[in-house]
Amino acid sequence: MTTDVSQFIDVDRGEIQGEIFHSAAIYEQELERIWARSWVFLAHDSMIPKKGDFLQTYIGEDPVVVVRQKDGGVRAFLNQCRHRGMRICRADRGNAKAFMCSFHGWVYDTAGNLIDVPHEETAYNPETFDKSDWGPRQVARLEEYRGFWFGTWDAEAPSLLDYLGDMAWYFDAHFDRYANGYEAIAVHKWVIEANWKLNAEQPASDMYHGDVSHASAKQVMGIGPTKEREGHQFSGTFGHGTGWWDLGGNTKRESVGDDWVAQNHDQVVERVGERRADGIRGHANIFPNFMFLHNGTIRVTHPRGPGEFEVWAWTMVPSDAPAEFKEEIRKKVLRTFSPGGIFEQDDAENWVEEQRIMRGFMARRSPLVYTMRMGDAKRDQNNLPGLTVDHPYADEGSRGMYRHYVDMMSAESWAQVIEAKVSRGEPVTYREIGLEGIAR
Ligand code: FES
Ligand SMILES: [Fe+2]
Repeated sequence: MTTDVSQFIDVDRGEIQGEIFHSAAIYEQELERIWARSWVFLAHDSMIPKKGDFLQTYIGEDPVVVVRQKDGGVRAFLNQCRHRGMRICRADRGNAKAFMCSFHGWVYDTAGNLIDVPHEETAYNPETFDKSDWGPRQVARLEEYRGFWFGTWDAEAPSLLDYLGDMAWYFDAHFDRYANGYEAIAVHKWVIEANWKLNAEQPASDMYHGDVSHASAKQVMGIGPTKEREGHQFSGTFGHGTGWWDLGGNTKRESVGDDWVAQNHDQVVERVGERRADGIRGHANIFPNFMFLHNGTIRVTHPRGPGEFEVWAWTMVPSDAPAEFKEEIRKKVLRTFSPGGIFEQDDAENWVEEQRIMRGFMARRSPLVYTMRMGDAKRDQNNLPGLTVDHPYADEGSRGMYRHYVDMMSAESWAQVIEAKVSRGEPVTYREIGLEGIAR
């Protein structure tokens, strides 16, 4: 039995009922229809640079090991021993030649092949037992964009590039700035007692909460209330969203990296154009759970039941930046968006409170208002690719996220998801948008 979530989500009216944040049945359906099908961020190149380097992560609730292979490629497989279902790898990260299950000692190589079974000759019938049948389940597709590896369990998913679509152009504003790319230098992991979607919709859409929720944090940091100025919000076909203030979105402060940034500015302009070099950063979510901010934070949120998620947040820095600049970025992220960060705590407080209130029946059946700037979005306007609104205070990113969410939760297959989008006239393939095109 599947639940028809469109009874709780009316994107055309801009109304959503909190049932989708509370219901255990809907959560179970998400595990199958969202998490077992979507492209999910697994690792950045810099997290597993050498052969045998691995980390463990999750696609939804399913634990996954991601390993750098001998040939330089990357593989990912379910972190579950085929014998009795234990975790094959219990370390967060490291370097390995093989993984031995700590229950009965089955051994898997770094590609996920079962290579050794204790007492195999005497314990199993060689006629019927073949080790090659019993490797862990492989992530069906693994693709990389700008050094960021994503995986999906669904072989029928569109390509990662098609899935990103116009969002790739916005992603590049953050991570295609330097020839030698970015590296992850720190990670924090913590738990928040709220539904994962309450978190995801925020970087996809909600710039509106800043002045009120973060009032005291802004005061402490000497940042005044946000001045109304140019800014935009983007909503992608597959549920991605981003919003930003144009030039000058970040308060200028002295940094030990100022000289390095100035020296490298031409490079950035050459790579992403003037508009993206200094603007179009803000906050963003690639559906379902890969978020990034202008300050170098990237994060995934792993769902843990309808009322809890784990945040895994890394700090990304330009690989070529001087060490003291990298350290400064790390500390800034630590102070703002780590578990003890002054902005992070405000956000978590909101999500936890929302979640608690949704326990009430009337509370979760009273429609919430997602109508901000409804009807204003246009495609490919103002030299911005995709569907955008001329202000970051909008619910377009959220509406787009939940429109895609309904598609995924309602469809039996990716083919049906695509069909729904095509019938609404939404683009479903990647468009090459060069500097000569829309992106000036
Ligand atoms: S559960 Fe892994 S060896 Fe038995
Ligand atoms: Fe916030």
